[in-house]
Amino acid sequence: IDKLCLGLEPQTQVRFTSTTSAIKAQTKNKTAKAAKESKTFQVIQEERREEAERSVLISCPPKINENKFLDYLSKHGTINKHFFYNSYGAYAVVEFSSRESIASLKESTNIPAVEHEAAVPFKSRLLSLKWPGSQSSNHPMPKLKEQSPPSINEITQLLSEKDTIDEQLHCLTETLQLTEENISLRFLVCSLLRDIAGAYFPECVIRPFGSSVNSFGKLGCDVDMILDLDGIYATSQKKGSGLSLEYQVKRGASERAVTQSILSVIGKCVDQFGPGCVGVQNILQARCPLVRFAHQPSGFQCDLTANNRVAMKSSELLFLYGQLDPRVRHLVFSVRCWARAHSITSSIPGAWITNFSLTVMVVFFLQQRNPPILPTLDRLKELAGPSDKCVIEGNDCTIVSDLSKITLQQNTDTLEKLLQEFLEFYGNFPFNKASINIRKGKEQSKPETTALYIQNPFETTLNISKNVNATQLERFVALCRESAWLLQQKEILKQSSDSPWGFTALLLPSVTSGAGVKSRRKRKLEPASSRIKNLLDSLKIKGGETVAKKGSA
Ligand code: CTP
Ligand code: MG
Repeated sequence: IDKLCLGLEPQTQVRFTSTTSAIKAQTKNKTAKAAKESKTFQVIQEERREEAERSVLISCPPKINENKFLDYLSKHGTINKHFFYNSYGAYAVVEFSSRESIASLKESTNIPAVEHEAAVPFKSRLLSLKWPGSQSSNHPMPKLKEQSPPSINEITQLLSEKDTIDEQLHCLTETLQLTEENISLRFLVCSLLRDIAGAYFPECVIRPFGSSVNSFGKLGCDVDMILDLDGIYATSQKKGSGLSLEYQVKRGASERAVTQSILSVIGKCVDQFGPGCVGVQNILQARCPLVRFAHQPSGFQCDLTANNRVAMKSSELLFLYGQLDPRVRHLVFSVRCWARAHSITSSIPGAWITNFSLTVMVVFFLQQRNPPILPTLDRLKELAGPSDKCVIEGNDCTIVSDLSKITLQQNTDTLEKLLQEFLEFYGNFPFNKASINIRKGKEQSKPETTALYIQNPFETTLNISKNVNATQLERFVALCRESAWLLQQKEILKQSSDSPWGFTALLLPSVTSGAGVKSRRKRKLEPASSRIKNLLDSLKIKGGETVAKKGSA
């Protein structure tokens, strides 16, 4: 459904080029990355937001002379960075070094003359390049870099060539994670949206949250956005002595009602005036009201929410956990990929476990290692300085922002061991009576009878996996057990370049998948030895077939 309303091509391509040589660009990227790593989450977000405000998105003709293109744009100012990608045609993201360049560029840009129809004269930073006459084809084509994730087929192939499971899991993260360019594009789309919302609320900011910024995002994941109106309140709090003025305002019945009304108007505006925005749906009755739409030029599915500061804080928390130890991201990427391959997670909302829940489950598991790999949320709060203090709607969301204050314990477990133990841990977790609580880093007794209870890290009375039903939890547990068992088999651990082994063997269809409760009962009666034999046989048969059957990861 998501793909249909997006009109997405499965193999959308994005490529990155630099005006300097490839090596120079790589070195620069690494330095920039290293510099970014020592910055706090807020600083990184702010820098990227500011870069996006100095950027434009340009639809280009199929054959483009890159030098001429850059020369033309440089008349408006210095270009810091640019890259090309393909999404139903070529597009370029161009970042200028100053915002004045955008004003100058816009001044020389025309509203198109439209035949038979009429244009909405909204001047955005989504532009189209018109190239007069035919271009000569003897100039080099700009390079384009993949933007969508590789198919499960390609992943299986790539991982089969590795030597150890640890290498496989490193490779998986590198292949699936968001690229620098893809992150820039996400921030640019938020910034383009901000220009629309800014017509009503000039001080507003639209910020990405969730997997676009928490370091666990996979190429192709949705862009979750927050319409942040805090800047408006900040100004109104500056009180002088004596006389003061107040704005006359309309009132709504509740915060929620006001959020719904703001989002419905902005949703309408995005629908009618937002270039490139299609399939706009107002989903205002949800617990967290949102406007969903597809941004065609970037190929992103977007969810715009408002008044959702806690979610931004949980993105920061996950980002922080991801930075503390590289094994965190590798384990999260592998668990998410494994869960998706077995339809434990889905892009359609429903009673499934979500990626967010899975990530919190990985964090909880890593807090339980001996010695622990990750600190508890309470510990992150203890380490916070005065400037880290953060209370949102009565919830204490304080966490340390300076990573150097966190001391980690020595734990040298390999990824293979951690994956194996993750599967065993959740294959045997007492879900019926215990809840998952990363604040305490210990299981707690379950406050209600939902199948899966994972305490929301900041809104501690909420369960982030309330939607999960018993059947979905059973499927997850059964798969954990089966995969844990598979990882113990010598045949699976043997490196092989022509059949799935190691992690890729865990992506093959499960023998328990699709089976109803009845057949599961029957299987329990089979002796263990015959189950093992059947499973190994089915693996041998299914090796080739799986790869052909599965679509994208
Ligand atoms: N969130 C939350 N409580 C939930 C669901 C979501 O607080 N019950 C917040 C989390 O911060 C989460 C963000 O909303 O990261 C976005 O939710 P979602 O898009 O479902 O998860 P992502 O982490 O973005 O993962 P995905 O790649 O599947 O989009
Ligand atoms: Mg998301």
